[in-house]
Order: sequence, then C-alpha cells, then structure tokens
Amino acid sequence: MADLTAENSEKAIGVFDSGLGGLTCVAELIKLMPSENIIYFGDIARVPYGTRSRETILEYARQDVNFIKSHDVKMIIAACGTVSSIAGTSKDFAGDIPFTGVVIPAVQAACAATKSGRIGVIGTSATIRSGAYGKAIRNIRQDAVIIGNSCTMFVPMVENGITAADDIVVKEMVRRYLKPIKDENVDVLILGCTHYPILRDAIAEYMGEGVTLISSGAEAAKHTMNMLASRNLLSDRTEAGTVSYYTSDSSELFEANARSFIGDSLKGSVTQISIDELSRI
Ligand code: DGL
Repeated sequence: MADLTAENSEKAIGVFDSGLGGLTCVAELIKLMPSENIIYFGDIARVPYGTRSRETILEYARQDVNFIKSHDVKMIIAACGTVSSIAGTSKDFAGDIPFTGVVIPAVQAACAATKSGRIGVIGTSATIRSGAYGKAIRNIRQDAVIIGNSCTMFVPMVENGITAADDIVVKEMVRRYLKPIKDENVDVLILGCTHYPILRDAIAEYMGEGVTLISSGAEAAKHTMNMLASRNLLSDRTEAGTVSYYTSDSSELFEANARSFIGDSLKGSVTQISIDELSRI
C-alpha cells in the first residue's frame, strides 16, 4: 500500500491573503521551515477585504481557498485576520485539508505573554466588528480586559509602501489609532491584521517597551509547523523549498511591493491570475 503520509508531506503549504499582508506569515514559514514548498495567493486586485460585508468576505475567501486547493496542497493558511475572523475555523472551506487562520494562534500567544490580562487588539473594521479575537481570548482567559480598535488606514498605507517609523503620516496614524489602547495600559497588543507587522517599528515605538507585540501572521506560521509535525507532514526535503506567488493584479506590481515587504526572502515566480478565472474555479 502506498504511504500516503510520505506522499502528502512533500506537497506545498498553501497561504492566502487579500494582499501583501500574508507575506508576514510566509516570511516566518521560510524562517522556520526552509525546506517547505509554499504557494501564496494575494488578492491585490480586491484588497482591502476588511471594509466589506461579511457575505462578500466569505465569497472571496471561498474563491481564494478553492484556488489554493487546486494546487493540491497539504495545509491551508488563511493568513488574513479578516477572513480568519469571519470564517472562523470553518471546516467547510478546506474540507479534509488541515486548515488554520490567524486568530487562534495569535490569541494563544497573547494569553501566554500577558501578565496583567489587559490585552489590546487591532485589526480591520470587519475583524473588530466580528469580536472574534475577544471571544477567543475569553475562552482562554475569562478575566481578560480587551481593548480593540480598527485601524482602517493601515492596510492602504502598507499596500502603498507608507511604512517608515519616522514618516509623519505613519506617526500620526499610529498615535490616532493606538492612543485609546495605550491609555488603557495593556501589556500585550495583538496585531490582528497580517499587514500590521510591517508597521511594527512605528507601533513598537509608540506603545513603548513594556508592551509585547504579537504578529498574527508569524504566530500562524508557528502553529502550522506544530500542526504539520503532529500529523507527520513535515517535508523530508534537504534542499531549500520553492515559493510560487500568485496575484490577481499585475505581477510586476506585486513583485515591486512585496520585495519591500519581505526583502530578499521573496524568491520565486510571480504569476498573475484573473478574477474571472478565480471565480470559475
Ligand atoms: N491582511 C488582511 C487582514 O489580516 C488585510 C485586510 C484587508 O484586506 O482589509 O485582515
């Protein structure tokens, strides 16, 4: 009988996001598991998801998952706080394929890191409206004090490369969105949208040293490694894995912006697929 585990373990890990934010998860996957093959889809023609309705987000997520599935992957990561908050741990999407979003991994890390139980959560409007992070935190720590805020301008800023910690626009936006959270003396802040770690320097500077920042994308990557290990699905490959990027808008645009995002670790082909194609899968 064929050893299905061995066969499956050499398949790629599939990762998707509305745009470039999921690359913060890919960067961590490459760091933790350099031999794994990765398929990434960034729906940059339709970013942002976070300002859209629940129905639209679910429909986009379904298309994204189907596209990733068409590459015969061994695991799927919704590296998007918005999709993770709206779709939860939904098995309907992924079927039998192991699946994770970013909410549970980020919340587990935040609950392990907090001493005071005062936890800040930032994300897109849809994420904060869903209350998904808050509910997940309360499942682990009932007495937690949770202060959330949506940071609507962060995603467009990041997608347009406005990220430098000394940029006056960045400083002002960070102060505007984070002041209500800082004023509540949190000791942990969940960056509940995978785009936000790109603004990490500015956020860290504003929040100060006593506040631990949790990157939802990086935590999802660590969680993925544990899920694959427990299912005996880690690759046995000894050489470096490949990363294949797909985007719903110009591949040149993706490449230019993505490189400033994860720098040299962005190695691999970038292919454009049309929205039309995506909605037919
Ligand atoms: N990276 C997505 C998230 O984590 C960006 C949201 C958006 O597209 O608005 O929520």
